[in-house]
Amino acid sequence: MSQRGITGTGGALFSDPGQDGLMHRAFLRGGGASAEDVRRTPVIGIANSASDLNPCNKGLALLVREVKRGVRDAGGLPLEFPTISISEPFTRPTSLYLRNLMSIDVEEMITVSPIDGVVLMGGCDKTVPAQLMGAVSAGKPATMVVAGPRPVSCHRGNSSVTVDDAWPMCDRRRVGEVDDAEWLEFEGNLNTDVGTCNVLGTASTMAAIAELLGFALPGSAFAESVSARRREIAYRTGVEAVAAVRRGTSPRDLVTMASLENAFRAVTALGGSTNAVIHLEAIAGRAGVMIGIDNFAAWSQSTPYLTNVRPGGSETLPEIEAAGGVPSVLAQIPDLLHLDALTALGTSWGDELAAVTPPASPAIADRAAPRAPRGALVMLRGNLAPGGAVLKTAGAGDPALFTHRGRVVVFDGLDDLNARIDDPDLDVDAQSILVLRGLGPVGAPGMPEVGHIPIPAKLHRRGVTEMVRISDARMSGTSTGVVALHVSPEAAVGGPLAYLRDGDEVLLDAEAGRLEHFVDPAEFAARTPYRPAPPPTRGFASLHAAHVLQAEFGCDFDFLRDPAAPGAAPIRH
Ligand code: FES
Ligand code: MG
Repeated sequence: MSQRGITGTGGALFSDPGQDGLMHRAFLRGGGASAEDVRRTPVIGIANSASDLNPCNKGLALLVREVKRGVRDAGGLPLEFPTISISEPFTRPTSLYLRNLMSIDVEEMITVSPIDGVVLMGGCDKTVPAQLMGAVSAGKPATMVVAGPRPVSCHRGNSSVTVDDAWPMCDRRRVGEVDDAEWLEFEGNLNTDVGTCNVLGTASTMAAIAELLGFALPGSAFAESVSARRREIAYRTGVEAVAAVRRGTSPRDLVTMASLENAFRAVTALGGSTNAVIHLEAIAGRAGVMIGIDNFAAWSQSTPYLTNVRPGGSETLPEIEAAGGVPSVLAQIPDLLHLDALTALGTSWGDELAAVTPPASPAIADRAAPRAPRGALVMLRGNLAPGGAVLKTAGAGDPALFTHRGRVVVFDGLDDLNARIDDPDLDVDAQSILVLRGLGPVGAPGMPEVGHIPIPAKLHRRGVTEMVRISDARMSGTSTGVVALHVSPEAAVGGPLAYLRDGDEVLLDAEAGRLEHFVDPAEFAARTPYRPAPPPTRGFASLHAAHVLQAEFGCDFDFLRDPAAPGAAPIRH
């Protein structure tokens, strides 16, 4: 088919009176569209990341029908297309390794296709930021519907099993407390339907961010994956996708420093995932702005931690959903928000929150009696992390360890960790600080969620359940612990972590936001640094190694950030 005369990629190509219009309409009709269908406007693409290889997102395959119905009822033409889908548990070496690739897929499909706007359908951790990053870069009006959390389940007398119950189960199995029969039973009981992790982990956190940034409908983050409410949200998102195109709302109207601040304050009030810091910075960079560690720290310090939801609390997502979800949390802190920021309805957050009266709920603390006076994400900096690090205080086992000085036990990558962590002769005690390095954006590659170093078996048997841990890796949003993560620069690019040795003294001071070592600077610099294996020389892996930025730039590729954002690749002519 000739591309002659094509000057744009919007849905107007379908109404072109000449050859291009004819061929566009004819090809769609060959796919089953009617003569009336191919003349509908606007044309709404639906970027669907449903996949058998991603059970968290698999439910989107059915939910998309509701989105299409909504688009049609609003007068538009829905055209679904597949994209890469990244599964948190299934993707090796890590899911973050593919986030930027998915963002390229999403951006290019939106850009090159004859569509006026797009509905993003994601869910599992990295799929939501990848879609938002791609949509911001593409620039066409975008709305989002997330997969929603899978149901809470039951196991042997526990009637509120959530995904984070897997971690203590695995710890107990490691020390011989779980027999084969229970191990098998738990496998069938943990996840009883499609949907994303049913706690305030990364997927739920990103769903809340999608709401705050104005892509997903207000109050839509936590509705269960397979429910009438989720189907209604999908339908209404289809309707709103058409409205967003008619309003001409671009993603850059939505992603501003004001909405980014709202989003991060919501994350800290919710006690959300540490991964939010990376993804928010990456999304910001696509819009040409940078949040920066000082803003993250200031916003977190001045936002109360309000929710009592797993993994940081005792309640489950259905409880906070029943209490109104994200808007009910925001309604407690309107004075901390930019109320003129836009919602996915085209309204302001001020208008939305004016209509919210949060019911009393065990899942949401009152502003007057917060679970903590400041947000649950603490930013750290110091001579061990000049570019920053992050610590989630929500749910951490022993707050006394938030300020702790101890001697480090250093592990070089996962093989070394796995080989030695349970060695009875490991020179470690409960006051030690465990360090895992070589697993940053370049090192792993892609920062696997392994920073939550297991407690050495010999200490676990003695009842030790919490220790200070430090890593250039990430941690699952479903995990908790006194773990300083995302240490930047990472060891693989010669960050200070590469120079640490067993026995060095290190201080974690969450109150002061410090992460320091006390080795003489000259001696430290004279050491031979740890070096992981050299990066691959072909394929996506080589592209990743050459262009991935450190955590403080959101681990985006330098050439994908907007040229106005710090860290963007210099423009070459
Ligand atoms: Fe997909 Fe948690 S593993 S959302
Ligand atoms: Mg995760």
